[in-house]
Amino acid sequence: PRQFFVGGNFKMNGDISSIKSIVTHLNDAKTDSNTEVVIAPPALYLLLTREHLRSGIEVAAQNVFDKPNGAFTGEISVAQLKDSNITWTLLGHSERRVVLQETDEFVARKTKTAIDGGIGVILCCGETLEQREADKTIEVVTSQLSAVAKTVQDWSKIVVAYEPIWAIGTGKVASTQQAQEVHKAIREWIGKELGEEAAKKTRVIYGGSVSEKNCKELAKEEDIDGFLVGGASLKPAFVDIINAKA
Ligand code: 13P
Repeated sequence: PRQFFVGGNFKMNGDISSIKSIVTHLNDAKTDSNTEVVIAPPALYLLLTREHLRSGIEVAAQNVFDKPNGAFTGEISVAQLKDSNITWTLLGHSERRVVLQETDEFVARKTKTAIDGGIGVILCCGETLEQREADKTIEVVTSQLSAVAKTVQDWSKIVVAYEPIWAIGTGKVASTQQAQEVHKAIREWIGKELGEEAAKKTRVIYGGSVSEKNCKELAKEEDIDGFLVGGASLKPAFVDIINAKA
């Protein structure tokens, strides 16, 4: 069975004081020991978070660059993350694909660099409302993932996050059926591209308006192996989402 995985993506939110209080709350909370938990604060607060957070919960960057070091102003390397005990990174979040215009190929290069460097990747994919209405969801999602499969064959340190763009920050969560259908298609695609073993083992988590109210229903679906939580990860109720399977 796949270990349930819950990520918290703080995006560009928080400050020293609020992030310290989120961390303290997590440190004191009773969280399901069967669930893997990773939080992703803004880069500036990664060290502070790692320093204050209890062991057993990992910290992720929200992005990483695809070069080892050098003249790349504003970027952070995989080696720098590892040096700071940051063991995961998000990559390919729709906000970066759309707002920062990251291409599938760029996301794939960064994923390869992170995996080769030994950190885990929460690899995000997802369709726009227009693409869903045009019945292109599976095509869009699998082509985003295909770019990565071309350069990375070992997906044992990749967690796929399916995040329909129309569900992000909108309060409009995908129905359990809508989410399960895409997760199943992603798993079938992994089986075809990377083999049955990878299909069985790779966690496919859901993101998009996950809350303490809807998480338990979603968590029952066979192919939903956890969540990537935005807004609700900044609130005390994040603990209820971590415990969705408990
Ligand atoms: P919300 O949970 O705020 O909808 O954000 C989802 C997300 O983008 C997580 O990466």
